[in-house]
Amino acid sequence: MVEVELLYDYPRLEERLIIERLRARGAEVTLTNVNDVPLVMGERVADVAVVRPISMFKAIYAAAARESAGTWAVNNASAISVCGDKVLCLSRMAASGIRIPRTVIAVDSRSAEQAFKASPKPVVDKPPIGSWGRLVSLIEDERTWRTILEYRSLLSSAQLKVHLLQQYVETGGRDVRVIVLGGEVLGAMERIGPPDDWRTNVALGGKTVPYKLNGELVETSIKCAELVGGDFIAVDILVDRSGNYYVNELNGVPEFKGFMEATGIDVAAHLAGFVLDRAKR
Ligand SMILES: Nc1ncnc2c1ncn2[C@@H]1O[C@H](COP(=O)(O)OP(=O)(O)O)[C@@H](O)[C@H]1O
Ligand SMILES: [Mg+2]
Repeated sequence: MVEVELLYDYPRLEERLIIERLRARGAEVTLTNVNDVPLVMGERVADVAVVRPISMFKAIYAAAARESAGTWAVNNASAISVCGDKVLCLSRMAASGIRIPRTVIAVDSRSAEQAFKASPKPVVDKPPIGSWGRLVSLIEDERTWRTILEYRSLLSSAQLKVHLLQQYVETGGRDVRVIVLGGEVLGAMERIGPPDDWRTNVALGGKTVPYKLNGELVETSIKCAELVGGDFIAVDILVDRSGNYYVNELNGVPEFKGFMEATGIDVAAHLAGFVLDRAKR
């Protein structure tokens, strides 16, 4: 029998489904709330670690702790950390010829000033770390920029003071999310932002509908997951009005509730099947 450990902090529907689907396939599932349980370096707990903390740092460290015992972690610590930092992730994609929105990194408010002046408006401003659209701003004018710069400079985390200034891709408030599992595309959906926001995050009220991928997007998505060495990766793609696409970000601990609703694909069942098949080999 395959032993699977699911590491989490706050259990969502996704985690409950993964547990259910693993057990339905005969796996022995151990649940570890990383907020309660210390992770001993070098200690083997199960054959596989499914890493699901919402907190990026907790996810990276949970994966690393289990990998220290030679355990296979889905995803591994390296994949989660590269995906979790937009600078590292975009840089890796750009180096491999994946099209990304034009991006300028400013590690201080002085360089951020320069970058803002030189950027065509509107410009997208975001910190390297974050999710659910938090602190991602669309800036048209100098006055708003000043305010954002000031707020960001007052945040206590050094990383949250870093600015990524990006070309605004005119998507009409939509984007495409592809899930890649074990080097293959599981499916795709389109997210449509709420009427009162330009961002498409489901956490902000974005709606999800199924999406039919062309061969190029399939290839790009698989390549992106491969680039970060991830087994279970969500690839978010912006498509402009002329049909040009730009990979916006990769997610190393993907949420998939909205994806399941849109596509009817039982992501947790596929994930469970993949994990158990691979673990048995
Ligand atoms: N350069 C951009 N051009 C157009 N829309 C963008 C751009 N960057 C972000 N967005 C929109 O904002 C949302 C949140 O930004 P994102 O970079 O994905 O941060 P998060 O990690 O918080 O989801 C995206 O889903 C997309 O709808
Ligand atoms: Mg996003």
